[in-house]
Amino acid sequence: MTAIDESGFVALTRAVSTRAGLALGAYKEKCVQRRIAVRMRACGVHTYGDYLALLEQTPAELDRLTDTLTINVTRFFRNAETWHAVRAIVLPALGREPGSGLRAWSAGCSSGEEPYSLAVLAAQWLEEREDWPALGRLQIDATDIDRASLQRAEQGWYRPETVADVPPELLTRHFTMDGDGFRVNETLRSRVRVRRVDLNLQPPLRQDYDLILCRNVLIYFDRATQERLCRVFDGALAPGGYLVLGKVETLFGEVRDRFTLVDARERIYRRCA
Ligand SMILES: C[S@@+](CC[C@H](N)C(=O)[O-])C[C@H]1O[C@@H](n2cnc3c(N)ncnc32)[C@H](O)[C@@H]1O
Repeated sequence: MTAIDESGFVALTRAVSTRAGLALGAYKEKCVQRRIAVRMRACGVHTYGDYLALLEQTPAELDRLTDTLTINVTRFFRNAETWHAVRAIVLPALGREPGSGLRAWSAGCSSGEEPYSLAVLAAQWLEEREDWPALGRLQIDATDIDRASLQRAEQGWYRPETVADVPPELLTRHFTMDGDGFRVNETLRSRVRVRRVDLNLQPPLRQDYDLILCRNVLIYFDRATQERLCRVFDGALAPGGYLVLGKVETLFGEVRDRFTLVDARERIYRRCA
């Protein structure tokens, strides 16, 4: 970047951070530049200054840019092996105490596929043990920064192609056909609390989670933010609680000493008791 580009970039990201309520300074700069370039190409502008002027005249473009910046790609049971490991390692360890519940946080939940995958898996696990009351003690917090994604998570309605990765027997058991798609049944939707939380600006909703899923989110942040968020997860987990990161993400910083790596392949960590 030339000095002019650099100052244009700084002015643009400041304006976007303020207007969209997005702390862009915490994200990897290259990643932000690539995403902005996508929108600039789509709009046919060539300088950061021109793009900022266009953003000021066209409020809808700010939404499109925010959408592009937040990268909401997700799927039900994304990385199936990780879910097998959650089922084999995490659920049995957490459900051992009679009357115990499960408090989980899907941090960066996008449109809800991740928290509902967990709800489906936990319900199946509990049903196999005929522990029906425990479903009432399942509480999953699903948080994200992106309002449009959160609205979809709240509705819990998905197109047929979106639920294609849900095993058929679980689709029949936990979803109902609604129009030309499928809606997660109320029994499970009531177990998922959808809230807007910007991981860079707001604290977790609670400090006693048994399980935190933060997958494919840290990757977009700079190193200092990654370390800070690892400290946040440490503080938000109950002793012995589990943290699941994305397949290419790792625990950063001094908190590594307080976690045991339980499954290196699936990036599952356990906070020391
Ligand atoms: C690639 S998706 C991952 C979705 C899901 N965890 C998965 O692995 O399938 C990344 C999500 O992180 C969210 N995100 C990005 N920055 C965030 C922030 N500062 N606070 C909360 N969520 C954020 C995005 O809106 C997006 O929904």
